[in-house]
Amino acid sequence: MENKQIAITEFGEPNVLSITTSTVPKPKEGEVVIKVAFSGVNPIDVKTRAGLGWAAQSNKDNLPWVQGYDIAGQVIALGENTQHFQVGNNVAGMIGFPLRGGAYSQYICVPESELSLVPDSITLEAAAALPLAGLTAAQAVNLAQIKEGERVLVLAGAGGVGHIAVQLAVATQAEVYTTCSEANLDYLATLGAHAINYQFAPVSERLEEVDVLIDLVGGDAALDALKCLKDEARVVTIPTVTAELICEKAKLLGFDAQGMLVKPDIELFETLLYMVSVGLLKIEIQQIYPLEQVIQAHLQIETGRTRGKVLLDMQC
Ligand SMILES: NC(=O)c1ccc[n+]([C@@H]2O[C@H](COP(=O)([O-])OP(=O)(O)OC[C@H]3O[C@@H](n4cnc5c(N)ncnc54)[C@H](OP(=O)(O)O)[C@@H]3O)[C@@H](O)[C@H]2O)c1
Repeated sequence: MENKQIAITEFGEPNVLSITTSTVPKPKEGEVVIKVAFSGVNPIDVKTRAGLGWAAQSNKDNLPWVQGYDIAGQVIALGENTQHFQVGNNVAGMIGFPLRGGAYSQYICVPESELSLVPDSITLEAAAALPLAGLTAAQAVNLAQIKEGERVLVLAGAGGVGHIAVQLAVATQAEVYTTCSEANLDYLATLGAHAINYQFAPVSERLEEVDVLIDLVGGDAALDALKCLKDEARVVTIPTVTAELICEKAKLLGFDAQGMLVKPDIELFETLLYMVSVGLLKIEIQQIYPLEQVIQAHLQIETGRTRGKVLLDMQC
């Protein structure tokens, strides 16, 4: 059996992504072999491929490198001393984060400690869309310590992280506001948020007395959103590139502000899977690209206008 993988041999434009072929890897102790059905594509993949950010810095001596952190697929073989899974199980997880990656593979060996069983009621597509974005959204909402009745503003509610963060914030019974373009107003209203069109006017002209800001945009949009906050508001800013700037400005204004980096967390991921399985959380997938079209998938993420998630179909 051949194993197609998508590797980068150098940093640069999307055309540095190339398909390589190897054999199906053999599991080490504690690992299982996964036949990957779908891999998630995240903005960090696109930034790292372009040579930007800390993940590129950390991997610069590690090329060629297979990117990707999100997988869903089937266990096809077990290494020694594995306990949790059987051949045939459907599993998913955020794997190898942040330095190993490897999810853009048709077959991959993964420590079983990084994987969760996918309930029968969840599609492998939804399971592959969930790990990195879902954990980021849940960890941001937890960090913000949102309480019932608080006014929460989520910048970029339509994105991969945003559409999950909005639903989790709504589930805490907060009053949730979110920014999006005109095309996403109705979509975000269906998730229970008050949607605000950022193309029409800056959010600071439309909203005040906000208790919690969850910033998924950074830069000028985040600086503008600080003007909506009430005294002693909490700010969680997710894009790492501008986190220091936003936190500094927010603290000067008297807010409690922090950046964050998503962390693997099996228990939290299984809670998210459960929420999807019972319909408490709806996963939006804008498009699934066959693995040969990975360049188009990266170009789509680069538009910054994706609704929900983009996946790669690794088995076609
Ligand atoms: N620190 C971490 O651990 C971590 C983890 C995950 C993600 N991130 C970062 O968090 C950010 C969001 O990630 P993501 O996966 O959600 O990205 P994404 O899916 O690519 O976000 C796309 C969404 O952003 C919205 N958007 C673009 N510009 C906007 C603006 N000015 N105001 C409001 N919405 C805007 C778009 O909505 P419209 O089309 O309606 O404009 C689109 O739906 C990225 O910078 C990513 O790198 C960080």
